[in-house]
Amino acid sequence: MEAEREILTLEPIAGDPEVGRWLAAMQDARRDTLRELVDIADDELERMSEAAASSIGTLLYHIALEEADWLFVDILGPEAAPPWPRTLLPRRDLDTDGRVPPITGVTLREHLDRLEAIRTLLLDHLGPMPVEDFHRLRRRERRDVSPAWVLHHLLQHEAEHRAQIAMLRAARGSGSEAAVQIHVRPDGSYKVYGPVQVLDVDGRAFDLTSQRKVDPLGARIKLCRCGASATMPFCDDSHVDTGFHSVPHADEIGGRSSRSDV
Ligand code: FES
Repeated sequence: MEAEREILTLEPIAGDPEVGRWLAAMQDARRDTLRELVDIADDELERMSEAAASSIGTLLYHIALEEADWLFVDILGPEAAPPWPRTLLPRRDLDTDGRVPPITGVTLREHLDRLEAIRTLLLDHLGPMPVEDFHRLRRRERRDVSPAWVLHHLLQHEAEHRAQIAMLRAARGSGSEAAVQIHVRPDGSYKVYGPVQVLDVDGRAFDLTSQRKVDPLGARIKLCRCGASATMPFCDDSHVDTGFHSVPHADEIGGRSSRSDV
């Protein structure tokens, strides 16, 4: 018996067929994203990996934020946009590299609800739009842009981040997906990625706000490894001036371990 054939088309989901097909493509892309999340557990959302610069949770927040930003700022603009959905997207700030700071303490259900709520706003505003308006340029502070181009961009944007999510999924079980990773830098510091607290000698937590920076592997702090920092336990780059040399490799330490507890 012949296997049931898939039927792959874009059926319009709005009054105007062209607008409706673009929106159908958006929904189709979202289904692909959701498929990548099927067996992701909440405790996997914050894990960092060399597979991507951000965790899955941060990528999901970023996808929602990007969609809302283009809708509110560029498509609707100050003349038509409702108030920013602060309860859905409380963090709108980006770091100096234009990335969303790490999102922590959020469940997958909450991420999915946020994505769906923002998507509903997008469909509600674009669904009834006549095709002429869909292609009409909006003159904005940063650029002139049409809703059609915004959807093209959002499709591409979500696909790129979906690929990162897929890479993070694939990295599971490879040993590179620990929630916290400490990278020993050659002749330098310990770079610590992931949700960590650093406690002082009395057990009080240091404020890490000014210590956290984002690099291509994600948000990290640097702990001093050379002993020369004036801001112990954090690295202040004194290792560069002192000529600190240490390039340890995992296969050189073997079974040796510390005997003391201090
Ligand atoms: S490792 Fe950077 S100051 Fe010590």
